[in-house]
Amino acid sequence: MTSPTSHRVYGDFADVHSAFYDQCALPAMDLDFFRSEPKPGRLLLIGSYCGVLPSLQSEVNAVRTPDGPRASFSERPIICDRSLPMLAECRRRRPDADVVQADVRQLPFGPSFAVVLIPGAVTAHLLTDEDLDACIGSVAAALFPGGELTLDAYAAGTITETPYFNGNSTFNVDGHRWRRIARTLSRTSASLQVVLEFASDESDQGCRELLMQRTYTLDEWLPVMSRHGLHCTELKHASESGRLYIRAVRS
Ligand SMILES: C[S@@+](CC[C@H](N)C(=O)[O-])C[C@H]1O[C@@H](n2cnc3c(N)ncnc32)[C@H](O)[C@@H]1O
Repeated sequence: MTSPTSHRVYGDFADVHSAFYDQCALPAMDLDFFRSEPKPGRLLLIGSYCGVLPSLQSEVNAVRTPDGPRASFSERPIICDRSLPMLAECRRRRPDADVVQADVRQLPFGPSFAVVLIPGAVTAHLLTDEDLDACIGSVAAALFPGGELTLDAYAAGTITETPYFNGNSTFNVDGHRWRRIARTLSRTSASLQVVLEFASDESDQGCRELLMQRTYTLDEWLPVMSRHGLHCTELKHASESGRLYIRAVRS
């Protein structure tokens, strides 16, 4: 069974959440891992994750040739998210990309992409093994043979040692101070139950939500990838940020 989800943090508070990513979440992420060798072909980015995009934009869209840099992606990149408010925020920031509302477990694409990026631990929302299998199957089907998938995931054991789900952050939205307050209530070997709160210091606006987030070990990726014709080329555990980074190529 796949898991349903509807989160206000990606709905009514998409702009606030995106500002948090811009200002606080990105320093913890290894953005360089997502800057793989550019390839000719089309890029698909899953989980609009708006804060990441400006940082990756120039890297993923340019390739060096003997004549200097030129666009490596022959067509406009496509950005998918299942949340319409997150996509609206994304469209505002990335007029050069096309946005498509889609669930990563059921992407509406045949083999048409050279590169698929899934940054920002979108994989934390794949709560069951069926979710994970559906996600990797649907991404593999969207890649050309030889195409590359890069993703990250929360590492079981080390993500709770970081302030990401046990700490407070402050950031700005249009000149106003906001806080993100995260507390881990409980954890199992494969998931976290987290209370996530976004609060404005200057008004009573805000939201508070209980989120389930999936965590992973490195060795659970290999079987699911190979089941769908993906060959892992790089696996990395960054314990200081509690994240796993995985790269795979479509055979
Ligand atoms: C950046 S990720 C999650 C980051 C992290 N877990 C957190 O909340 O701090 C959230 C983005 O992925 C999107 N997303 C979550 N599950 C998805 C799915 N099954 N398909 C497509 N997008 C999804 C959300 O709408 C949101 O824009």
